[in-house]
Amino acid sequence: MSEKQTLVDAFGRRVTNLRISLTDRCNFRCVYCMPPEGVPLLAKSRYLSVDEITRFVSVIGRLGVTRVRLTGGEPLLRKEVVEIVDSLRRVDSVYELSMTTNGSMLASLATPLKKAGLDRLNISLDSLEPERFRRVTLYSQFGRVRSGIDAALAEGFPVKLNVVVLHGISTNEIIDFARMASDHNIEVRFLEFMPLCGTGWRPDLVYPIGRVREIIEQRFDLQELPRDDKPAQTFSIAGGGGKVGFIAPLSEPFCENCSRIRISADGRIRPCLFSDYEVSIGDLLRTHASEERLVAAIRYAVANKPRGSQFADEPFTSGRRDSEVSMGPNIRSIGG
Ligand code: GTP
Ligand code: 5AD
Ligand code: SF4
Repeated sequence: MSEKQTLVDAFGRRVTNLRISLTDRCNFRCVYCMPPEGVPLLAKSRYLSVDEITRFVSVIGRLGVTRVRLTGGEPLLRKEVVEIVDSLRRVDSVYELSMTTNGSMLASLATPLKKAGLDRLNISLDSLEPERFRRVTLYSQFGRVRSGIDAALAEGFPVKLNVVVLHGISTNEIIDFARMASDHNIEVRFLEFMPLCGTGWRPDLVYPIGRVREIIEQRFDLQELPRDDKPAQTFSIAGGGGKVGFIAPLSEPFCENCSRIRISADGRIRPCLFSDYEVSIGDLLRTHASEERLVAAIRYAVANKPRGSQFADEPFTSGRRDSEVSMGPNIRSIGG
């Protein structure tokens, strides 16, 4: 691919990975994400249509973006979700099409999503105990999420589970999750709580991912796998199946190798998860602007991709004061 056909930012990082938020709505209220009363929502009429999303993916695909992840809010709440997967699957440049979901609607949707051509699923599951799950998500839907995970595995989807480790809430489940990875031969990734939420920064809830790793290493023999541009440092569990991964955007930032760009449900391109900087392309898509204009807007957004989050130079440590941490945009509204 010639340089003209690729997207490279001002720091030499190649952008190959797109996250598309299909909706800003969610049927959960995770303590680290949304306040119980919810947040102001976009009018659904502002959402990019199936055709507009498909055109955007085709255009950015010609610039070398080959991996596409559908996110939300909760992407399965978007009523055209299967149609969107089906349409994106037909775009030649899309090498991998994946989704991040809370899993609560997968029991009925895993089969149609598989048929439409979705490749893999990342599912959030913060506790293996129903009551604790309810405390984190505010809804008693543990059973539905477990059924959703079972349905995804039965369909043959490669599944990664995302576990946000919250100090004092889920820390005593770390070994249970690692055992689950090994027993079911899946990948379980432990995420550090990040200041991207509508609920206020809670440094008391941060549990350093390094400690999670130490706890697991006391029981399991881990072998490190290549990281590439992935957010997770991943290990295979020796002597059985399964993998564990550690995602620590605060204490071990990975901005240097970031290959991502994201677009909100209403067409705002966000080159960095931790920055408010955005370039809106919604009106260009709605008015059928030329490919040249779309490419110029995409290149402009990529050229302004920040070098990293506030933690890139000075990683977060538990001793750091709250006032030194600024809140990023809500992860839900920008395609976490
Ligand atoms: P794969 O590695 O391709 O499976 O997907 P993923 O891990 O990128 O996707 P997922 O939606 O499961 O994201 C998991 C976590 O990765 C998020 O909660 C974030 O902690 C982190 N993450 C995702 N995108 C970004 C990003 O652009 N910047 C940073 N700093 N972290 C990100
Ligand atoms: N900190 C850490 N992880 C978060 N997620 C959402 N908000 C936060 C936050 N503030 C996780 C979700 C999902 C993934 C995309 O991001 O649990 O698994
Ligand atoms: Fe919904 Fe995901 Fe936010 Fe939880 S983290 S409230 S499931 S968008």
